[in-house]
Amino acid sequence: MESVSHENRKFAPPAAFAENAHIGSMEAYHALYEKSIKDPEAFWAEAAEDLHWFKKWDTVLDASEAPFYKWFSGARTNVCYNCVDRHLEGPNRNKAAILWEGEPGETRMLTYQDVHREVCKFANGLKQLGIKKGDRVAIYLPMVPELALAVLACARIGAVHTVIFAGFSADSIRDRVNDCGAKCVITADGGWRRGRVLPLKNIVDEALVGAETVTDVVIVKRAHGDPFPCHVKEGRDHWYHRLVQDQPIDCPCEEMEAEDMLFLLYTSGTTGKPKGIIHTTAGYMVYTHQTTKYIFDMKPEDVYWCTADVGWVTGHSYIVYGPMQCAATQIIYEGAPDSPDEGRFWDIIEKYRATIFYTAPTAIRAFMKWGDQWPEKHDLSSLRLLGTVGEPINPEAWMWYHKTIGAEKCPIVDTWWQTETGGHMLTPMPGATPTKPGCATVPFFGIEPAILTDDGEAVEAGILAIKQPWPGMLRGIYGDEQRYKDTYWCKWGGKYYFPGDGARRDEDGYVWILGRVDDVVNVSGHRIGTAELESVFVEHKDVAESAVVGVPHEIKGQGLIAFVTVIKGRSHDDQLLKELVSMIDKSIGKFARPERILFSNDLPKTRSGKIMRRLLRDIAEGKKLGNTSTLADPSVVEHLRRQYEES
Ligand code: WT7
Repeated sequence: MESVSHENRKFAPPAAFAENAHIGSMEAYHALYEKSIKDPEAFWAEAAEDLHWFKKWDTVLDASEAPFYKWFSGARTNVCYNCVDRHLEGPNRNKAAILWEGEPGETRMLTYQDVHREVCKFANGLKQLGIKKGDRVAIYLPMVPELALAVLACARIGAVHTVIFAGFSADSIRDRVNDCGAKCVITADGGWRRGRVLPLKNIVDEALVGAETVTDVVIVKRAHGDPFPCHVKEGRDHWYHRLVQDQPIDCPCEEMEAEDMLFLLYTSGTTGKPKGIIHTTAGYMVYTHQTTKYIFDMKPEDVYWCTADVGWVTGHSYIVYGPMQCAATQIIYEGAPDSPDEGRFWDIIEKYRATIFYTAPTAIRAFMKWGDQWPEKHDLSSLRLLGTVGEPINPEAWMWYHKTIGAEKCPIVDTWWQTETGGHMLTPMPGATPTKPGCATVPFFGIEPAILTDDGEAVEAGILAIKQPWPGMLRGIYGDEQRYKDTYWCKWGGKYYFPGDGARRDEDGYVWILGRVDDVVNVSGHRIGTAELESVFVEHKDVAESAVVGVPHEIKGQGLIAFVTVIKGRSHDDQLLKELVSMIDKSIGKFARPERILFSNDLPKTRSGKIMRRLLRDIAEGKKLGNTSTLADPSVVEHLRRQYEES
C-alpha cells in the first residue's frame, strides 16, 4: 500500500487547555495507556466504578468463546439509569440536558429531571403496547428530542432499539424491520429538512406493507398534518402525545445482564445485505462513558454539540449514551446547515455559547466552499474544543477548521472509529497529543493497533488491525454468527479484529487512516457498500451486469461511479438512466445516488471472469491504467476509458 501524504505540521495543545484537561500531558496519557494494555481488566474495572450497577461483575473479560467476547459478566445495570436517574440526586437534577432547536427556529429545553419524566412516560407507553425486554423496536424519527427519549425509553425497559436514519427509503426500513422482527415502529408525521417537510409516516406506511411482525406504530406530531395527510390506522397506530399523556411519571429500570442486547444498528458491508451490528449493555456503556469523558474532556460547564444524526452510530454513542452518562448539556439541531442560510451552525454556536463542536469533514469542506463570511459574522469565541468523525479529513480542511472556526486555540480531535467499535479507537487526547492535520494519531486506552500485510506481517503502511478486544466492540451480526466471524475475525486467524481500513504509521508512531480497503465507500460520511447498488441495478430487466466504484470527491470525500452493461438490443437512453436512479432512491435512499452512471457493452474482466474494479477506479479517476495484462480482453478497458472521457 502506498501513501502519498507528506504532512509535517504539528500543533501542541494550548497550555491553558492542557492545564485543566482530564489528561494534560503525553506522560499522563502514556502512563494510563501502558496500564490499560498491560492489565486491561484492572483498567476497565476501575473505569466501570464511575457508574451505577445493580450488581457488580464477576469477571471483567471472558474470552472463553472468542470472538464472542463477554465483558463484565455477572453484572446487572441499566444504561438509561446511568444516563438519567444517576443525575437526579444532586446538582445535575435541574441541569439542561438537551437544548433543542428545530429547523424553523422553535426551541425546547429539557433538564435531566424533564428527561427522566418524559422517558418514564414513554417507557410506560411502550409497555402498555406490550413491548417487553428483548423485543425489537425500530425508530424512524427526525432529530427531535423524542428521538433521544425513544432510545432511552427502550433502554430503560430492555427493548432493543434499531434506529433507522430518516433518509432511508421504505424498502430499507422494511428490510431492517423484517431482519430483526421488530414489533413496533416509532416515527413522526414529518420532519423538517431544508425548509421542507419529509412525510416520514407515509414512508413507514409503505414500508410496513410486507412487514408482518410490526403490531404497533407510534407517531410523534411534528409536521402537524401539513402539507400532506398523515393516515392513522385504527388499532395499529398511536399518537405519541395521547399514548404518554396519562402515563405514570415513574417507570423502574429493567435490571439488564451485562451482555443483554442494547441495540442493533444496520450498516453496509461488502455484500448487498446490510448487517445488523449488535451492541450490548455493560461494555458499550463503560466504553462510551470513558471516551466521552477523555476525548471531549467533558466538564459540567461545557455546552457540547455533535451535529451527527442519531440515525448513525455517532449519534448513538456521542449524542445519547456518552454525553448523557457524563451529565452533559448538549445542543440538538433538527435541520440542515444551510437553512435558512449558510450561517446557521455558527448562529447556533453563538446563541448557545457552545464550547465543544463535533462534526464531519464533509460538512467542513462545504463550509469552506460557502466562504469565511458566514463564520465571520458570528462570535465563536466560546469554543474550546473541535472534533471530526466519519472519514479522513484532508489537511487543507483541517487547517481551515483550526484557523477559521477554532481561532487557532482549540485542539482538534480527529476520531477514527466505526459502527462496530462502539466508540473512539484512534484519536488525539485533546489536552495531551500534539496533532497533525489529517491524522487520527494515537490509540485510546485499551486499544492496541497494528498495521499488517494480508499475511499478518507488521509493516509501516498496510491494513489496520486491532489486537485486543475492548468493551465497546460489537458482539455479533444479528442472526448471522458466521458472517460476524468471517467479516471481522478470519483475516488473521482470529488474532486480530479487521476493521476494513488501510493505515500507515509515521515516525512519531502516529497512525494515519488511508481509507477503506474493501468495497465499502464513504459518501459524505455515510457508509455504502458498492454491492448494495450493484444488486439494485441488476434487478432492472435490461441490465446485465454492473460494477460500482468509489472515487475521490471534493465535498463528499468519496463519490460513487456506476458502470452498467445492458442486455443486447436495449439502448442506453435517458429513460433507462432515470429508471436506475429511481431504483436507488426506492431501494436505499437518495443519499446513495451515484455521481455518474456509465453504460457500456462490457466490463474489464480477468480470464476467470472477475471484474477488475481497480481498473474501473483508474478510469473514473482519470489515472494511468494499472496492469492490464491479466485481462481476458484488454481492448474493453481502452474503449471504456475513451467513452468515460467523452461522456
Ligand atoms: C468508517 C466507519 C465512526 C462513526 C461514523 C462512521 C471511516 C470514520 C474516520 C476518521 C478516517 C474514518 C473509516 C471507518 N472513518 N472515522 N476519523 N478518519 N476515516 O461510522 O459508518 O461505521 O464508518 O468510517 O473508513 O471504517 P461507520
